[in-house]
Amino acid sequence: MSVYGEARKVTTHTLLEMKRAGEKITMLTAYDYSLAKLVDQAGVDVILVGDSASNVMAGQATTVPMTLEHMIYHAQCVERAVDRALLVVDMPFGTYQGNSRQALDSAIRIMKEASGHAVKLEGGAEIVESVQRILTAGIPVMGHLGLTPQSIYKFGTYSVRAKEEEEAKKLIADAQLLEEAGCFAIVLEKIPRELAERVSKAIGIPTIGIGAGPGVDGQVLVLHDLLGITMDFSPRFLRRYMNLAEGIDQAIKSYCTDVRSGSFPNEDESYAS
Ligand code: KIV
Repeated sequence: MSVYGEARKVTTHTLLEMKRAGEKITMLTAYDYSLAKLVDQAGVDVILVGDSASNVMAGQATTVPMTLEHMIYHAQCVERAVDRALLVVDMPFGTYQGNSRQALDSAIRIMKEASGHAVKLEGGAEIVESVQRILTAGIPVMGHLGLTPQSIYKFGTYSVRAKEEEEAKKLIADAQLLEEAGCFAIVLEKIPRELAERVSKAIGIPTIGIGAGPGVDGQVLVLHDLLGITMDFSPRFLRRYMNLAEGIDQAIKSYCTDVRSGSFPNEDESYAS
């Protein structure tokens, strides 16, 4: 039995209650109205307008090119569909690093123009000043540690992070710092499961894992990966629940066949005078 009831709107406080009750949190990405509506109606707790829109929606190789305007556009589309889930919006690369005033301005734009409920930032000690400044405006902040795709050019690969003890210790210290700063949850991406469990036990706020094993407080996946639309992306951590790419391919081919043969539209699918 859920600690908060299926129909109630999800808040940052709800997520904390869920962690305390040992209830797992579900989170998925969405970038458009139609799919966001299905995700919300299916009862997912947190919808993330991720900057993975850069890859999934725009076909770019990294998340680096995303702008604040892009994120606000996607967030506006998703927001119109969301009734129950907590709506978290990624702050894109270059809108919060190294300048906490700019971070606050960017976060305020997301809240005012797209009606987000919270923002997500990648990084630890390096960005904590920005986190603190955003929080002064009453905007909830979700952290993101481990593999941080906006720093791809620093690391050069999307491989598993914090396998070495030194990097693992920094990650734990960063998680504690983000909790002390006031973050309400932290995404842990692509780190060893033992480390993810250690972090989850070391902090009081929820951890949401992607490629971080089962010992975290919740899980997040990119919606298009779960649905089997992005078939060229197959990391070990991904479980595909559908092969939608195949279904869509078959549907489109059938449509072409029917148009070419003249069997679509038929009498029932057209209007009499
Ligand atoms: O942008 C995104 O989709 C994300 C998730 C992978 C957590 O940050």
